[in-house]
Amino acid sequence: MATLNLIVDDAQAETSTIRSFSLKAAGGDPLPAFSAGAHVNVHVPGLDAPRSYSLVCLGTDLAAFTAPDRYHLGVHLEDPGTGGSRYMHRVAVGDTLTVDPPKNDFPVRAAQRGEPPPLLIAGGIGITPIASMATAFTLQGRPFHLHYYGRSRNQMAFVDALSKQCGTALHLHFDDEPATQMALDSLLASATPAGHLYICGPKAMIDTLVEMAHARGWPQPNIHVELFTTPVLASGERGFDVELRQSGLTFHIPPDKSILEVLIEAGLDPMYDCTRGECGVCQVDVLEGIPDHRDYYLTDAEKKAGKVMQICVSRSFSDKLVIDL
Ligand code: FES
Repeated sequence: MATLNLIVDDAQAETSTIRSFSLKAAGGDPLPAFSAGAHVNVHVPGLDAPRSYSLVCLGTDLAAFTAPDRYHLGVHLEDPGTGGSRYMHRVAVGDTLTVDPPKNDFPVRAAQRGEPPPLLIAGGIGITPIASMATAFTLQGRPFHLHYYGRSRNQMAFVDALSKQCGTALHLHFDDEPATQMALDSLLASATPAGHLYICGPKAMIDTLVEMAHARGWPQPNIHVELFTTPVLASGERGFDVELRQSGLTFHIPPDKSILEVLIEAGLDPMYDCTRGECGVCQVDVLEGIPDHRDYYLTDAEKKAGKVMQICVSRSFSDKLVIDL
């Protein structure tokens, strides 16, 4: 589907660091439908890759998903960031944004008979896809629990709208209000591993929750995650070599770059989408070497087998990897 030129119809400061936007088609035509958990890629002038922002859907009108007249986004100003959120915090009402049609790498699963209610967990701006899931479940009459974590009440977006919409299904946890706090492990202990878990937030929160969920017996297929930022490589990473078996080229991957970044910089055209290790689009076969999996896409068994890897985030335990590209 072709890119969309959308007009910024409204822009509001939700908090001191989060801005919300309404985008509409120039002629006011209905926009492509989307499902809860979907995002759009916004093309930012001067940046090589578009930036992904989840579509926020709050309210009681199913048409907001099926025949939307506007898309709603919430954008946190990242500091330091890579330029996308700074750009979004400068756009004004009336500006035009070039946006790819919605795509969903974080969909909700259909309810199975007898399944416990899904558990939705959001940290900070991770509320954006989770809010749409809560709306979808509300419209379906499907019970759920939403736990929304943040530093303080005035730093969390969409709280009033969510409170109105979700009622007792919403549980707010503020770091600076001890009475509201709930440890992540206690939260998981209160739920049944037979249900589905949807998590969106910072990487540290996701990694902690995924590890705890595994320890508590949650099956991998029931754990669904989305990072709200592109992962930043930690200091102390090591470099390694990657040989592309089909083309016969070998590249050195320095500590501060991903395999994907190095291949793109070399003028190659590998397939990718999320760049966060979630969608699986950049997956390649591993022919030699030991991949260091950093993604949220593969199952534990697939990671252990080491036959495939996601080149946007995963690295190497061995000095050299040979991949089927
Ligand atoms: S691009 Fe999505 S997992 Fe790599």
